[in-house]
Amino acid sequence: MLIGVTGGAGFIGSHVVDALLEVGHRVRVLDLRLPHREDVEFQQVDVRDREALLEATRGLNVLFHLAAVADVEEVSRDPISAMVANVGGTVCALEAALRNEIGRFFLASTVWVYSSLAGEGPAHEESPFSVSAPRHIYTTSKLAAEMLCHDYGHRYGLPVTVLRYGIPYGPRMRPALVIPTFVRRALAGEPLLVAGDGTQSRRFLYVGDLARAHVLALAPRAIGQTYNLDGAEPVTILRLAEAVRRLTGSCSAIQFVPERGGDYRGHETSSDKARRELGWEPQVDFDTGLAITVRWLIEHSPPPGRRP
Ligand SMILES: NC(=O)c1ccc[n+]([C@@H]2O[C@H](COP(=O)([O-])OP(=O)(O)OC[C@H]3O[C@@H](n4cnc5c(N)ncnc54)[C@H](O)[C@@H]3O)[C@@H](O)[C@H]2O)c1
Repeated sequence: MLIGVTGGAGFIGSHVVDALLEVGHRVRVLDLRLPHREDVEFQQVDVRDREALLEATRGLNVLFHLAAVADVEEVSRDPISAMVANVGGTVCALEAALRNEIGRFFLASTVWVYSSLAGEGPAHEESPFSVSAPRHIYTTSKLAAEMLCHDYGHRYGLPVTVLRYGIPYGPRMRPALVIPTFVRRALAGEPLLVAGDGTQSRRFLYVGDLARAHVLALAPRAIGQTYNLDGAEPVTILRLAEAVRRLTGSCSAIQFVPERGGDYRGHETSSDKARRELGWEPQVDFDTGLAITVRWLIEHSPPPGRRP
């Protein structure tokens, strides 16, 4: 199959591209910037440009739509641009998929949609949440994009699937995220800044495992479905900081600082549906995935004196 990946030059998209190629699909990357490998088709296209996207998606059998403003700090700084890219870009991608009769459409969403969930227990795909609850504008953009997918599914019969990602990590991750930040500071001998008391945990998900879920979600039974794709193991930020110190051989101190407002509080999420229906579960444990990631970050760290 010929599969398009918008945002295929980004962190997650590049691993989705690798996973699709590995099982024998042909891939076309649709992005503003060049992909990380040369054995793919490439269309330099802005997903906000509906005519250009319509043209660039001709002939595709499947479209994975990952292009977005994914950095929540960037969304806070410029919410209008983020909404235009994340919501406007999604409707352009859906419209292109519909008009080009693309057989499957996948949206990259997030488990942050559960941040406003009331009550205890792990969130599952049908857990209700309120539109008036406080959440990040980034999350609102993803919820709006999900709703658009269902509109195109129900109104026009477009075969859509929504994938709600947990917190992925791995090679090529963005430098501003917590793991690269810790590694950078550890290598520079600077203190690792831990918000709050560090006991808050995250289910980090190795990006290779997340990418593999995209291949499995090509199964016809995923049409019209939403899947949580979260990490298996809760890891506290303190454990992460200590592991980074160990893996880098750093003597950096761990320093506790006040929590930032708007951080995702980490509602427990169940990925049982993906396990049951797609046969997906994470295979790379945190210690292994972190060691791979730290090694990659060290190999790709800028020369001393230059900050990324
Ligand atoms: N990284 C995470 O923690 C995380 C978690 C949940 C969901 N997601 C979602 O997964 C997707 C990929 O995230 P990522 O972490 O790989 O982000 P990323 O920033 O590494 O990649 C995004 C890619 O989209 C491209 N892009 C952005 N705007 C574009 C536009 N207007 N036209 C064409 N291309 C454009 C960028 O050039 C980049 O290559 C996003 O939709 C993001 O919201 C990410």
